Amino acid sequence: MTDPLNARLLDIALEAARTAGAMLRERRPADLGVSATKSSPIDVVTEMDIAAEKLITGFLAEQRPDDGLLGEEGADVRGTSGVRWVIDPIDGTVNYLYGLPSWAVSIAAERDGETVVGVVEAPMRRETYHALLGSGAYANGERVHCRPTPPFEQALLGTGFGYLTERRAAQADVVRTLLPRVRDIRRSGSAAIDLCDVGCGRLDGYYERGLNPWDYAAGALVAREAGARTGGRPGLDASNELTVAASPGLFAQLQPLLDELGAWHD
Ligand code: IPD
Ligand code: CA
Repeated sequence: MTDPLNARLLDIALEAARTAGAMLRERRPADLGVSATKSSPIDVVTEMDIAAEKLITGFLAEQRPDDGLLGEEGADVRGTSGVRWVIDPIDGTVNYLYGLPSWAVSIAAERDGETVVGVVEAPMRRETYHALLGSGAYANGERVHCRPTPPFEQALLGTGFGYLTERRAAQADVVRTLLPRVRDIRRSGSAAIDLCDVGCGRLDGYYERGLNPWDYAAGALVAREAGARTGGRPGLDASNELTVAASPGLFAQLQPLLDELGAWHD
């Protein structure tokens, strides 16, 4: 039976993500520009990232005033309930800025540090992905599963690149070695969507170095609940150092290979 608190947290996350997603789709200014930069001149924030985070955190604080909050655009509240929300108001900001469709609102709920709910709202795909710990993964309400493990050389992988020049150079070296060994590599520009694509069987696997919890918390739960494995370096959980998600048999090959190729360091 589904834990009633988890079910309630899922309803709240779905409503927050859908409201923010609709606002972002409908009110994107035609002349949208960059409001600020973060880790480098190409790591951008728009007024809409800020507005969406405000909308989401305002709604969550109203519904669950004692919960903690962690948001990419600065939300950081400790909370007292043991529940913490991990929010990326726009995952794929550069796509959103350019008018490309791969961007999403990502909201996860953790209980005592464990992710129990993940919602990824991808408005331009007209898709909502969700997962509840132990209850499977869904796209628009339909159960989804990761793909059966392919032969390694037929794997379609997703990845992404950070915003720092030195990191990108190291990431390019890994891609250079990996690309000739697999079917192909995709770079969608949204880690949350990439992880959901592993869960929906649209990618065989995904990896990236340098992600933050708001990028992967919700999508990684979707991938796991769809039957994929997720992790970081061998024996470790997904982290800023490395995030890997793939069908189980592929994961068993991809994770050690990425470790050997140094995908976890710059
Ligand atoms: C980025 C996206 C991108 C990934 C970057 C992330 P943001 O998130 O997920 O796919 O490659 O590492 O920072 O900045 O658009 O929220
Ligand atoms: Ca973001």
